[in-house]
Amino acid sequence: MKVLGIESSCDETGVAVYCSEKGLLGHKVNSQIDLFTEYGGVIPEIAARDHSVKIIKLLEKLLSELNLSLENIDLIAYTVGPGLIGSLMVGETVAKTIAKTKSIEILPIHHLEGHILAPGLEDKDVPPPYLCLLVSGGHTQIIDCKSYGDYTIIGETIDDACGEAFDKVGKLLNLEYPGGPKVSKLADSGDSSRFKFPRALTKDRNYNFSFSGLKTSVLYTVNDSDESDYADIAASFQEAVIDVLTKKVAWALEDTGHQRLICSGGVAANKNLRERLQLLSAESNIEVLYPSLEFCTDNAAMIAYAGYIRKKFNLKSHQTNFARPRWPLGELYA
Ligand SMILES: Nc1ncnc2c1ncn2[C@@H]1O[C@H](COP(=O)(O)OP(=O)(O)OP(=O)(O)O)[C@@H](O)[C@H]1O
Ligand SMILES: [Mg+2]
Repeated sequence: MKVLGIESSCDETGVAVYCSEKGLLGHKVNSQIDLFTEYGGVIPEIAARDHSVKIIKLLEKLLSELNLSLENIDLIAYTVGPGLIGSLMVGETVAKTIAKTKSIEILPIHHLEGHILAPGLEDKDVPPPYLCLLVSGGHTQIIDCKSYGDYTIIGETIDDACGEAFDKVGKLLNLEYPGGPKVSKLADSGDSSRFKFPRALTKDRNYNFSFSGLKTSVLYTVNDSDESDYADIAASFQEAVIDVLTKKVAWALEDTGHQRLICSGGVAANKNLRERLQLLSAESNIEVLYPSLEFCTDNAAMIAYAGYIRKKFNLKSHQTNFARPRWPLGELYA
């Protein structure tokens, strides 16, 4: 079975082909980051238009490099939500048009299920049960994954996502959008113990997060500092985020009894976070798995793979068949 994956939920256009026998055959991502550096964030209308300009060419290029045609595709898996409505509708229109004209089966996929399953995409399937720390541009969640398609959010941010906090701090430090990777790079040359930024919601044992106070605290510190302090601010901010993430994950692992942790989403590319989770893994004998760096941020390979898993295990289909911008993972079947 060959699955064509299509991703267009935000500012990355992605296409991929996953094969049930041979694994990932290939994928392509067109990032729109360059379009948005001057604005410091995504402009939804520009994102949607760029998806529609690029997606067909990207797909033709992928298929020709793989020496495949649409006749070789058995299933189309596309991101139906959550995300930007205009962006989602581009991928959906392409997916539905191909499915209809070529009589191919089609499966709408929840974007976060793609992120959750991404670590199984390359070498071998990584079946649940496990705990997932999902840290992306729009989400920060701890998810109890009992089986494929059975995900319970046991903790999440009550305000900003941690990727969003990285991006906002990047802006404060005059770094280009998206700030996450640049804050992390700047932090390499900084002293992470210099500024004591708040670690919100860590007094009581719970798995929720709050990053907006941290961001405000960074803002005040930036206002009282000059550029020579920026590396120390970046390092101290990153340390505060990682402290909170690892503390909550350690609690959740103890309480749920999971022996395996999946860390995925864009911030899972952060090397300091990975180092800290590695320590946690060694201390508590927990296996920690990540997608490779290129599959941490948005891509269609994880969407094709989620489609393959849904089909293989004949998972109950969710009722969402039209672009759904707001769609909490807890409402997967609602
Ligand atoms: N090395 C890094 N350190 C910290 N943050 C990073 C790093 N690399 C990427 N990020 C952050 O990851 C985020 C992008 O991740 P991703 O593409 O998964 O998010 P998204 O798709 O926009 O959000 P969602 O999946 O929740 O809809 C950005 O906020 C970016 O700054
Ligand atoms: Mg994403």
